[in-house]
Amino acid sequence: MLIILDEAYFEFLADPVDLLPMIREERMPNLVIMRTFSKIYGLAGLRIGYGVGCKEMIQLLEKPRQPFNINAMAQAGALAALDDLDHLNATRKTNADGLKYLEQGLNSLGLEYVPSYANFILARVGDGPGVFKSMQQNGVIVRPMQGYGLPEWIRISIGTQEENEKSIQALKSSLAPN
Ligand SMILES: Cc1ncc(COP(=O)(O)O)c(C=O)c1O
Repeated sequence: MLIILDEAYFEFLADPVDLLPMIREERMPNLVIMRTFSKIYGLAGLRIGYGVGCKEMIQLLEKPRQPFNINAMAQAGALAALDDLDHLNATRKTNADGLKYLEQGLNSLGLEYVPSYANFILARVGDGPGVFKSMQQNGVIVRPMQGYGLPEWIRISIGTQEENEKSIQALKSSLAPN
């Protein structure tokens, strides 16, 4: 059985569990960890990520891999991003501060939410699709969650402080009775 762990938001955690030793020490030959440059590194447009697994597993994955599946620009960007610890730390801090701000905002509006460590937060707003539309009219795009079986919830992305303030303001007006 193959176990694939998607660690797309790994870098946002202050103290993540490090599973790489399990692979290095060959304790879990069936484990593959996947990471991406699309999230904390902000390089989604480059379409680059990586997987970590034991040698035999990677050799197997190499067989169906398309040649030239990652271009040279993306590789250069990804390598530079790995070295740019200042940017990584600054983004992690902006996100953690933003999460705190949004949680406080949701608390003050009396809304339930799921505590998050990623760059988004799930909030129960009642009429998810209605709040989505109304926030969009105020220039803020959130994700309505009815497609995931959660019609009362929306997903709000964390942004800069200014963007987070705009989100809470738009949410507040979309909840206010007309
Ligand atoms: C949980 C999760 N895994 C993976 C991805 C995909 O990242 P990529 O842009 O590398 O395909 C996303 C992005 O939306 C995600 O939310």
